[in-house]
Amino acid sequence: MKSKFISIKEAMQKGKGKVAVKGWVYRERGSNKMKFLVVRDSSEIIQVVIDRENFKKQWAEIDKLQIESSVEIVGEIKEDKRAPTGYEIKASEIKIVGKSDDFPINKDLNEELLGDRRHLWLRSRKMTAIMKIRDTVLSAIREHWRKKGFYEYHSPSILGMQAEGGATLFKVDYFDKKLYLAQTWQLHAEPGIFALEKIFTIQPSFRAEKSKTTRHLSEFWHAEMEAAWEDFEYLQDDGEELIKNVLAEVLHKNGEELKILERDVKKLEPTLKKKFPRLTYDDVLKILKDKKKIKIDWGKDLRTIEEDKISELYDTPIIVTRYPKAVKAFYMKEDPKNPKVVLGYDLIAPEGYGEIIGGSQREESIDKLKKNLKEQGEDPEKYEFYFDTRRYGSVPHGGFGMGVERLISWICGLSNIKDAIAFPRTMTRSYP
Ligand code: 4AD
Ligand code: MG
Repeated sequence: MKSKFISIKEAMQKGKGKVAVKGWVYRERGSNKMKFLVVRDSSEIIQVVIDRENFKKQWAEIDKLQIESSVEIVGEIKEDKRAPTGYEIKASEIKIVGKSDDFPINKDLNEELLGDRRHLWLRSRKMTAIMKIRDTVLSAIREHWRKKGFYEYHSPSILGMQAEGGATLFKVDYFDKKLYLAQTWQLHAEPGIFALEKIFTIQPSFRAEKSKTTRHLSEFWHAEMEAAWEDFEYLQDDGEELIKNVLAEVLHKNGEELKILERDVKKLEPTLKKKFPRLTYDDVLKILKDKKKIKIDWGKDLRTIEEDKISELYDTPIIVTRYPKAVKAFYMKEDPKNPKVVLGYDLIAPEGYGEIIGGSQREESIDKLKKNLKEQGEDPEKYEFYFDTRRYGSVPHGGFGMGVERLISWICGLSNIKDAIAFPRTMTRSYP
């Protein structure tokens, strides 16, 4: 075929005349005289009609065309209200590029089988829509920090120490050593701020989460920032701005995809307009007691259920600060006004999507860091390089990490975080 191919969306924008498109058969039905295909490409779907009269020689193979065969089509496009997307192409030429026999995805497959056939399920309209939103999210995150003068900086994924507790470490056989997959970039990001001052990354983090929840992946993409000289307020402000900027970009660019996902976008709008409430851990305990009749002993971490209960009271994310020291990571700075709590925060999404950001001001005292590590059963010697950041020109600093799939899950309104990434890794899923 000599025609110049355009995307299905471009063909629909053109709306009339001769067009050439290529894609995959999304649906097919037919009779002895006519074949109706719905063809999809990455941009859209469109109905194609093939009249046997005009395809006498090719009819045998056209008649056998099955879902997911790849095709090139040339024909006249016109508006047709009855067609699925309002346009139809009457084919004058068709080329079958790749055959497809019994595509093994159908409406009746359960979650498990869809997981096994993930490499094919990616072609669904749902997954395509999510992956387009993911693309917007990733570029909006970069844009947010680049505009503020942050440098993109990367850390190793293979490390000799934990930062977020030993329980979720994956071990790696590293030649003759036992090492781990990184839970966060943080310990190798802090040295970087002494050169670049403000840095960010988007890279995978790994957690051996031994629980089957709708919020946990073993490998997730982690958007993290670290900034020299800045205080705790700055970290909260930046987290709030980041969420607002990313959400605004998705609402601007991905209206069609959100519609395919049947996302109620009205529920997202308050997040753009309102300032996120900032509560302390103590406030949360009091509110849960007064409004939800839930009693939590001071010192206990907030569990998923409690995060959900508190978030029910708000239509935007909330920022919870000053958790008890014992439930948070070793590097979080003690509140100078109250040594029992840390200058750390969690940003909790509305609608029951849980913690999206975790961040803190960093402890500068080497003695306190060592004490915290020992309390967690860690050998401080493994962290000597890290203490050097406090030995040579230490400055106030802090940072946070945002779970990219958590954010996508909430924005898209997904029922499980697994769909926020093409090939999820969880305790029970590592194939394909
Ligand atoms: O709260 P976390 O554990 O914080 C850190 O790792 C810090 N070192 C970040 C920093 O200050 N640079 O993780 C940060 C975020 C969480 O709020 C959550 O969104 C996401 O990472 N996250 C996960 N997402 C998916 N699956 C998991 N198993 C996750 N664990 C954390
Ligand atoms: Mg956290």
